[in-house]
Amino acid sequence: MTLTGPFTQLLTFADLPLRGALSDDQLQVIPNAGILTEDGKIIATGNFDALREETSGKGVEVHEISGDAVCLPSFTDCHTHLLFAGSRAMDYAARNAGKTYQEIGAAGGGIKDTMAKTRAASDEELARSLNDRLNRHLRNGVTTIEVKSGYGLSVDQELRMLRIIKNVGDAHTADVVSTCLAAHVIPPEIGDERDWLQTILEGIVPVVEAEQLARRFDIFVEGGAFTAEHGRQFLEQLKSQGFGITVHGDQFTAGGSQLAIDVGALSVDHLEASGEKEIAALAQSDVIPVALPGASIGLGCAFTPARKLLDAGASLAIASDWNPGSAPMGDLLTQAAILGTFEKLTTAEVLAGLTFRAAAALGLNDRGRLSSGQKADFIAFPTADYREILYQQGQLKPHRVWNNGSPIT
Ligand code: NIG
Ligand code: FE
Repeated sequence: MTLTGPFTQLLTFADLPLRGALSDDQLQVIPNAGILTEDGKIIATGNFDALREETSGKGVEVHEISGDAVCLPSFTDCHTHLLFAGSRAMDYAARNAGKTYQEIGAAGGGIKDTMAKTRAASDEELARSLNDRLNRHLRNGVTTIEVKSGYGLSVDQELRMLRIIKNVGDAHTADVVSTCLAAHVIPPEIGDERDWLQTILEGIVPVVEAEQLARRFDIFVEGGAFTAEHGRQFLEQLKSQGFGITVHGDQFTAGGSQLAIDVGALSVDHLEASGEKEIAALAQSDVIPVALPGASIGLGCAFTPARKLLDAGASLAIASDWNPGSAPMGDLLTQAAILGTFEKLTTAEVLAGLTFRAAAALGLNDRGRLSSGQKADFIAFPTADYREILYQQGQLKPHRVWNNGSPIT
């Protein structure tokens, strides 16, 4: 067993609900706290001196923390496209000069431009850049990281991406969750929506199952990508085969969120275009809405209506969407802090969206809270007041990160 502390403050999130608005008064803040762990799991949290006393003579290793430190569960990024090659600086400049994301995509740029660059990159180059991005996230306190395929867009190239995610992910200290996003856009060589969805079901899914490359599938429901009508059959088939489902929905036009609800998806991500009807329907469902402020900042679009979703009683996770096109920044904490200022989210709502609510969007209920039995994944910030974390808008980074009970920084 290991006792780590003392932390000036420790936030447990232990009793916070999965859904609905949260006030900061609901936060359990333990002063002068310690955390007791064993075999990668949390045994207890509480007053550091009391825990030391209780465990003295029992062979407990004590890891002392000096200086001010605020401890909380480490972050989960439940939506990224970290495996890609090349830059889309050209798109960014073109958008700021007046072109829209959809116009750039329709002209053969956008996702298809990254597809061409990704296809042309070697396995080693892709693996190295994925590893670098995972490292950056881990240093910034993100210990569970979802990574999507979706820039291969042929049977072989999608499988190549998924194998790279698996190889790099298995070897990495962070916990990597792989998602197949072969249904990102219609490949230029195929041109027909139904043909490609059928090809995914027949050519990609059996290999994904045989090689255990992913337990989750995603689809981009939008004009220029896939319709809800064709997406429905595709997702129902995958669901019946036991895969977890997530949807890129309501980014520019509404539609994807209702499909996600109908097929029983784990999450629906984006939602910048969701209106009152979509918000009400999501609040009645078990689908976790995921806000992607990095895409709003990258595209100069509205933010996901996070305040309204929470007030209606929905859950809310916050993810980076880190990708070369719509969300190149990749700094989850900065993005979440900015979302909080524009959407008027409490500290509790933002931090819940980065921890146990984000883990739940991946179907993981074993992390994101500092309570007995949870994974010992936690971070500390060099401050005495937890409110400094969002106040500094991403400039205050964790100075210590633990994954499975082990310090990694
Ligand atoms: O989540 N909207 C679809 N897919 C990504 C963007 C991918 C890209 O532009 O390369 C997103 O924003
Ligand atoms: Fe995305």
